[in-house]
Amino acid sequence: MLTVAVLISGTGSNLRALLEAAHGAGFPARIIVVGADREAEGFAHADEFGIPTFLVPWSSFDSREAWGDELLRQLDVWNPDLIVLSGLMRLLPPAVVAAYAPRIVNTHPAYLPEFPGAHGVRDALAAGVEQTGASVIVVDDGVDTGPILAQERVPVHPSDDEAALHERIKPVERRLLIDVVRRIGAGELDLAAASSA
Ligand code: GAR
Repeated sequence: MLTVAVLISGTGSNLRALLEAAHGAGFPARIIVVGADREAEGFAHADEFGIPTFLVPWSSFDSREAWGDELLRQLDVWNPDLIVLSGLMRLLPPAVVAAYAPRIVNTHPAYLPEFPGAHGVRDALAAGVEQTGASVIVVDDGVDTGPILAQERVPVHPSDDEAALHERIKPVERRLLIDVVRRIGAGELDLAAASSA
């Protein structure tokens, strides 16, 4: 059974979908811990499912490296097979990537390499594109530059604002993320092979 740590910053709606999927019979992965860089609303989902949580407050550290060292210490307590970044709004420090790569995946609300970074939805709207998308990637040291594991297009409607477009993207993200975690757990997707391809 694949053990998974999920890192979040916000509402954790994608985390919740993964928790529900992992709770179902026959799913080949289980979430063992949820961590965050702030008092994330999404911790409530972990609590509801009886999953332990840890907090490494970004605001308590002087540097990204110091924050990363504590994050790594917390992750190592659980030693997960896979780390899922599900709305973690921080770039993972190189020490964390080095320790767990290629076993770290990230969901992103755009069709990478289009619109990387913290404002993927806003940037797609500002660019005036007719379609954007959702992606699940392997995390490397860049900003959303790792190998793409799954992605799908989502149309932009003329009436969309950022919130409406993001709400249309998220169900697609959830489906892709659950399927990627399922395939990794089932041995159908090899992250090392995907990263060296
Ligand atoms: C998701 O759309 C995720 O892809 C995005 O934050 C949202 C979190 O929603 N992450 C990024 O933009 C990372 N660059 P949630 O907290 O409701 O799951």
